[in-house]
Amino acid sequence: MQSFQELSAQFNTQFATQHFPATPTTLYEPGEYFLQIGGKRIRPVMCLLGNELFSEIHPDAFQVARAIELFHNFTLVHDDMMDEASLRRGMPTVHTKYDYNTALLVGDVMLIRAYEFLQNIQPSYLPKILKIFNRTAREVCEGQQLDMDYAKMNDVTMEQYIHMITLKTSVLLAACLEVGAIIGGAGEKNCEHLYEFGKKIGIAFQIQDDYLDAYGNAADFGKEVGGDIKQNKKTFLLLHALSVANTDQRKQLDALLANNDADKVEKVLAVFNACGVGEWAENLKAKYMQEAFEHLEAIAVVSSRKQPLIDLANYLMNRNK
Ligand code: IPE
Ligand code: IPE
Ligand code: MG
Ligand code: MG
Ligand code: MG
Repeated sequence: MQSFQELSAQFNTQFATQHFPATPTTLYEPGEYFLQIGGKRIRPVMCLLGNELFSEIHPDAFQVARAIELFHNFTLVHDDMMDEASLRRGMPTVHTKYDYNTALLVGDVMLIRAYEFLQNIQPSYLPKILKIFNRTAREVCEGQQLDMDYAKMNDVTMEQYIHMITLKTSVLLAACLEVGAIIGGAGEKNCEHLYEFGKKIGIAFQIQDDYLDAYGNAADFGKEVGGDIKQNKKTFLLLHALSVANTDQRKQLDALLANNDADKVEKVLAVFNACGVGEWAENLKAKYMQEAFEHLEAIAVVSSRKQPLIDLANYLMNRNK
């Protein structure tokens, strides 16, 4: 069995090749640019780990892994336009380096490329994997729309937040593991538990992402810190602060949300600190990690095979990028 690092190195070697034809360069050069500026490649490796949990890695798992990473990058290129983000992976985003129309099409063509890789896999499980892939892709769109809708609302609940991040982020991590497991020949019950494991760590993953968006080190994180605050994103940080704020803090937050002053991020962070959002985040992540591990335990394979997934979950929770 291979570790996360080994599989990651193997995937990176395969993925480092050119993804698109040469012309038109105005479309494909920006696409290649985005795909080679980095990224942790968590999702494709999760697909490989899902396969490896049950049997030796089948070449089809690499095809699906590649499709998944292309799909993920499509969502990022479009997400950066929606979030008006100028930086990702420490580099200018596609719409910033090129323009909005290019970024739209770069995202579209990445999605199409993803389906081209899916098309290559064995007909025996293609329909099953396609069904999961399509359902997940639709859910990501739903989550992304809710993310935008909530930014304009001021009565979002913690339940709504969890529902939104489940859709926009965690179902994809869950699906990566599941499609890998299907290729690996896993039974239905095992697939279900693995999916739930992925969903729970996916929720904790987005909680960490939202935490880093406020508290991360920009050089490590590779994205603009404070972007969610500027956009009034209804992250757990803001929702928790709103729920425990005293009258004075509540007034401050309401005023800060109503405008975009130069010192908005700094001032919102001061209220977040006073409301203890950091400690609260740790507890929330721990709760989802605990639930995740219960599902991992329920999977009927010898526990030594599960170690790479335990390592993965711990890495995702403690990451700073
Ligand atoms: C970013 O995902 C989008 C989220 C769901 C938070 P990653 O943090 O996996 O981004 P890359 O691919 O490593 O850049
Ligand atoms: C994005 O959530 C989730 C998707 C791209 C589907 P974020 O907007 O928080 O992701 P980042 O922080 O820009 O990577
Ligand atoms: Mg974003
Ligand atoms: Mg977003
Ligand atoms: Mg984010």
